[in-house]
Amino acid sequence: MELNLPNNVIVLDHPLIQHKVGILRDKTTSTKVFRELVSEISMLMGYEATRDLAVVDAEVETPIAHAKIKQLAGTKLALVPILRAGLGMVDGMLAIVPSARVGHIGMFRDHDTLLPIDYYCKLPEDIDQRDVFLLDPMVATGGSIISAIKSMQERGAVNIKLLCIIAAREGITKITEAYPDVKIYCAAFDEELDENAYIVPGLGDAGDRIFGTK
Ligand code: PRP
Ligand code: URA
Repeated sequence: MELNLPNNVIVLDHPLIQHKVGILRDKTTSTKVFRELVSEISMLMGYEATRDLAVVDAEVETPIAHAKIKQLAGTKLALVPILRAGLGMVDGMLAIVPSARVGHIGMFRDHDTLLPIDYYCKLPEDIDQRDVFLLDPMVATGGSIISAIKSMQERGAVNIKLLCIIAAREGITKITEAYPDVKIYCAAFDEELDENAYIVPGLGDAGDRIFGTK
């Protein structure tokens, strides 16, 4: 099916990712399994989202002979989860980029206005020199991500990629209009939001499901 998405949006439709997202959507999935899967999906997404990291040529001696190898060029990375739900994506990403620094942005949606309220922002001091992976499993209206990108840019961040597990069209459209240079990697794409701006079919409230608060 043709999704007709902007060019900056990459839907990671690998079978392993699709299978795991299906289990996340199931309302009978336990908190423990949900948390584990968010972490695994984040690692798989991170694998794709780091595909363009720079490498340099190097040489080593194997036990047998001389070998020409590739090494990461040492691009500085930062992971920035949006609290709370983004925290669930940090460990999976750190499993593949263990030297990344981690910043945090605290934000929640006001239940009545549906607008993001930010309450915390602590980023690595040298965020302007780092490739930033912004982490939040859910993009619904896009308000939280737009506010997070604005906060990060005000603090110097220039190279930002967004990793989200489920993205809705409304959010993707708004983010792309505001920040066309930000690449958006998602594991699944859903068309609709309900009257409370929850993603349909989505997976419910990601923060509550990761932390077992409901
Ligand atoms: C969720 C989610 C995003 C936001 C998406 O967080 O993790 O941050 O909603 O909605 P939007 O695209 O319409 O802005 P929530 O506000 O539920 O906070 P929580 O993670 O603390 O539960
Ligand atoms: N936040 C969530 O956690 N889920 C949604 O469906 C929308 C926003």
